[in-house]
Amino acid sequence: MVIKLRRQTIDILKILKEKKLECEASDLANELGIDYIVLMSAINELKAQKLADFKENEVFLISLNEEGFSYLKKGLPERQLLQILLKEKIKEIIIEALMEKSQFDKEMFYIGLSNMKKNKWIVQSKASGENKIFLISEDFPEIDLEKFLKKFDPKNSIFHESLSKDELIHLENLNKRKLIQKAIKTQRILFLTEKGKRLKLNEITELEQISKITPEMLSSGTWINYNLKPFDVTKPGPLLKAGKMHPMVNLINKIREIFISLGFTEIRGPIIESAFFNFDALFQPQDHPAREMHDTFYLNNPKVAKLPEKDRVKAVKETHEKGGDSGSTGWGYDWDENIAKKTLLRTHTTATTIRRLADFYRNNDVPPIKVFSIDRVFRNEKVDKSHLAEFTQIEGIVIGERVTLCDLIGVISEFYKKIGFEKVITRPGFFPYTEPSMEIAVYYDKLDKWLEMGGSGIFRPEVTYPWGIKNPIRVLAWGLGLERLAMLKFGREDIRDLYINPIKWLRQESY
Ligand code: PHE
Repeated sequence: MVIKLRRQTIDILKILKEKKLECEASDLANELGIDYIVLMSAINELKAQKLADFKENEVFLISLNEEGFSYLKKGLPERQLLQILLKEKIKEIIIEALMEKSQFDKEMFYIGLSNMKKNKWIVQSKASGENKIFLISEDFPEIDLEKFLKKFDPKNSIFHESLSKDELIHLENLNKRKLIQKAIKTQRILFLTEKGKRLKLNEITELEQISKITPEMLSSGTWINYNLKPFDVTKPGPLLKAGKMHPMVNLINKIREIFISLGFTEIRGPIIESAFFNFDALFQPQDHPAREMHDTFYLNNPKVAKLPEKDRVKAVKETHEKGGDSGSTGWGYDWDENIAKKTLLRTHTTATTIRRLADFYRNNDVPPIKVFSIDRVFRNEKVDKSHLAEFTQIEGIVIGERVTLCDLIGVISEFYKKIGFEKVITRPGFFPYTEPSMEIAVYYDKLDKWLEMGGSGIFRPEVTYPWGIKNPIRVLAWGLGLERLAMLKFGREDIRDLYINPIKWLRQESY
């Protein structure tokens, strides 16, 4: 009769036949460089065919405990004490002085001392009136206990049965000194049965390898005659081309989650904005260069925007002209309401932030208030690999009593930490609406560079006073680039990729 076995089982059977003697399973697995489980599954296959079997034995294993290992490395306490004496060429010493030099605790010191005496390395005497020890030998060869200690190594345990009579005495010594630990292990001794020994290799055939079991194989039971191909779990699976969120949407949601977890509420404002909210309310003078057509997209339709309450418009006008009640001297020009009414595509989401300040006034809000927005802005820029004319800002403010620049740095650093950038630095910057102003940069390890991410600061009184936000209430504000962050996160070198949607990149990104 022909016996069918898996390839690996046949190999193991051959080895058992060559060995002739019984062998221990974990030793054999080590010797063959295969997993213990793989070996035992082959043995069980042989067992099912009554070709091989195993018996179980319990054995005692001995190893050093932590203290024992430390002595294996540094020497027993007596050897360590001796080294101190030899190194400093000390022939006699007061016991306390040696204890201090050794920095041992009392117990360990006296164990060491008494063993030094036992080894006849020293004698102790109080003859001089002081409690002293004297070195009485010149030569200090390794003692048997130290030799025995070296039989241990951190990886392997020693079988109790393998120890000689003398070694058992040393073992007892180590045991008394509480330097060892014992464990019981079950050994499996493998052997061939009579049938296994008699079986000739040409009476075996290899089981056919298949990678799939069909329903027919299952119902007829013939699957048992096949050898299943093992899976290589290290191989990447096939690429799943299912629909998924765009990476930018995932990133925005992640940012949202971070600010919400920090206690912020999301706000949104109109894309079509008035110059009033985009510039005037930010104390940007009406002849400021950033307002020019080459930076800002102005609109023809609608041509004029609605301004907020008359008294607030007046407060902004007065701040520009003479500083209003903010304590500033203002810009000293005649403010023109018609310029403020111009419509534009907002150039920053700080416009939305100012709308929140207007609501603060309107609703008689009470600080602290923490809001953020992640929204689109527009600038008349030439598009290239690092510029877009339409991009996204991560904007936010904290309105609070006596909040400081430290709080601002704290919030921004915490945000970047949560999104995966541990290192953040702030440097002095300039914006017409904040004082002090800071630029934010994060450290990007792949390029070993600090990269500029956006601006921040504390709104000037000229910005907050028209909305009734007065000292000691202050507004911390920031505006950070989303696409910059996305480029770093996704490792894209061309900012346009984020919206052109290279299909290869989108497929790589996670769900
Ligand atoms: N609005 C600034 C920009 O677009 C960023 C900023 C926001 C700076 C808030 C200071 C305070 O670059």
